[in-house]
Amino acid sequence: MSKRFYITTAIDYVNGQPHLGHAYEKVITDVIARARRSMGEDVFFLTGLDEHGQKVQQVAVAEGKNPQAYCDELAASWKNFAQKLGLSNEDFVRTTEPRHKEIVQTILSKLNAEGHFYKATYTGFYSTSAETFLTEKDRLPDGSFDASYGKVAELKEENYYFKLKDQQAWLIDYIEKNPDFIVPSYRRNEVLGFLKNETLEDLCISRPAARLTWGIPIPFDLNYVTYVWFDALVNYISVPAAHGDPKITESLKLPKNSGQPPVELWAADAHVIGKDILKFHAVYWPIMLKAMGLPMPKQLLVHGWWQKDGQKMSKSTGVSVDPIAVIDEWGLDAFRFYVVRELAIGPDGNWTDAGFQSRYSAELANGLGNLVNRSLSMLKKYRNGVVPKVSNELAPDADKAVQETIANLRKYELQDALASIWTLVNRANQYVDQTAPFKLAKDPTKAERLDEVLYNLCEACRILAVLLWSYLPTTSEKIYQQLGLTDSPNKLDAAKWGLLKEGQVVGEPAALFPRKDLKPT
Ligand code: ME8
Ligand code: MG
Repeated sequence: MSKRFYITTAIDYVNGQPHLGHAYEKVITDVIARARRSMGEDVFFLTGLDEHGQKVQQVAVAEGKNPQAYCDELAASWKNFAQKLGLSNEDFVRTTEPRHKEIVQTILSKLNAEGHFYKATYTGFYSTSAETFLTEKDRLPDGSFDASYGKVAELKEENYYFKLKDQQAWLIDYIEKNPDFIVPSYRRNEVLGFLKNETLEDLCISRPAARLTWGIPIPFDLNYVTYVWFDALVNYISVPAAHGDPKITESLKLPKNSGQPPVELWAADAHVIGKDILKFHAVYWPIMLKAMGLPMPKQLLVHGWWQKDGQKMSKSTGVSVDPIAVIDEWGLDAFRFYVVRELAIGPDGNWTDAGFQSRYSAELANGLGNLVNRSLSMLKKYRNGVVPKVSNELAPDADKAVQETIANLRKYELQDALASIWTLVNRANQYVDQTAPFKLAKDPTKAERLDEVLYNLCEACRILAVLLWSYLPTTSEKIYQQLGLTDSPNKLDAAKWGLLKEGQVVGEPAALFPRKDLKPT
C-alpha cells in the first residue's frame, strides 16, 4: 500500500443552489486531480456537502421541511451538479452521513477526555450567516458590524470551548518554517499577520440544542450540538477514516475495518479553498489536527472570488452566473476552459459574458477547433485520411510546450499551463499559414513536403489532446476519436512526439466548438 495523492475541495453549504464560485473551485480541483492521474499518480479527490448548522436549518424551516428531508433533496441536485461539471471525484461526503458523524463524535470524546475543552458563559453578538461569535473588535469605526455578517443578534449562553490560547506560538513557527503550507504567499502573510498581531480567542465548539437542533450531538453533553465548522472540517479525515486510513485509524483508535484493504490518504496533499474560509483552515484546522496527534495537510491552496460585471454576486440583487445555463448553452469544456484560463488560483476574477464569448470564439473555435478541423480535413482530402511517415519539424515546439505545461501543472499554475498549451495551438495554426498545404496540394512535385506538413499537423493535434485532457476531457477524447485512435489521451506519457504512426487511418472530422452567432450584450 502506498500513499495516494489526496486532494479536497471545501464542502458547500446546502442552503441554496450552486453558483459560479462553487463551480470554479470544483473545476480547478478536478483539473489538478486529473493532471496528477495523468502523470501516473494514484489520486483520491474528495468533495461534498456541509449540511448542518443554523443557516441550513433556517432555510429548511422557511421552506416548511424537516432539515434532513431538505438536505436529501438538495444533495441530489448538488450531486448532479458535480456530474455536470465532469468532476472525477473518488468520494462525495455529506456531513449528515453516519460515517462522518461517528468520527466527529469520536474526536470530541477524545479531545474532551484529554482536557482540551472547558465550559463557560458567553455574552455578546452572534452572526448566523457567518456562524460565528463577534466581539467589540469586529465592529466598524461607526459601531456597526460589516454587512457580510448579516443580521447580528445579541446573546448570552453557556457553551463548550476549545483551548487555543497556548497554540499560537507553534502555529506561527510552523507556518514560517513551511513556506508552501499556505499558497499564494500573500494569503500566508495575511495569516501570519493575524497570528502575530492578535490573541487567539478560544473556539466555541458547541451550540445549545435549545437554540439549534440541526447538528451532531456532543457525545458527552446531549444538551448541545457541535459547532458547524468543527463538524465540517472533520470531513477531510472522516472520509479517509471510512476508507481505513492507517494514520487516522491509529490516532483515533478506531477499529480496523476487516473488509476492504485500507487506503492511505492522510496527510492531505492539498485543501483547495476560497479566501473567505482561510482562517478556519489555517488556524483552527491545524490546531484541531495537532490536538488529535495527526500531521498537518501539505498545502492550503487558496483561490480568489469571482464577481459578475464587477459586482459581488448575491441572491438579493440577482447578480449571478448560473454555471448550468452556461454549460447547457456552450458546452462543459467551454465553461471549464474559461474559468481556468481567465483566472489564476489566487486573485479575484470577474466574469463578463462578452469576455466568455470572446475567448470561446478566439481561443476555442478559431484557435484549437479550427486547427484540429482543418488538419484532419486536409489529411482526408489530400491523403484519404492516411497518416504519412513521421516528420519532426514541429517536434521542438511541441516538446517545449509539453515541458512547460508539466512544470506548470506540478506547481498548480493551471492558467500558465493553459497558456503553455496554447503556444502549440498558435504555432501549429501559424505553421498552416506558413506552409500553405492547399497550395502544396496543387503541385505534384511538392507531394513529399505535403506529407511532412500533414504529419506535423496531425501529431501536434494528438499531443494537444493529451495536454488538454485534465482541462477539457471530452474535447480531448473527441480529438483522439477523430484521429482514429482507440486508446485514451489520459496519460501525459503519450505527449511524446512521433507516437502517431504512419498508416494510421483517421476518423471523421467534426467541429469541436461550433461557431455561434454572438448575441449582442
Ligand atoms: O464556506 N467565487 O461553504 P460555502 C469563488 N461550508 N469562490 C466562492 C464564491 C465566489 N463568488 N462564493 C463562494 C462554506 N465560494 C463552508 C465550507 S469546508 C470544511 C466548509 C467558495 O458554500 C468559498 O470560498 O459558503 C468556499 O471555498 C466554497 O465556495 C464553499 O462556500
Ligand atoms: Mg460562504
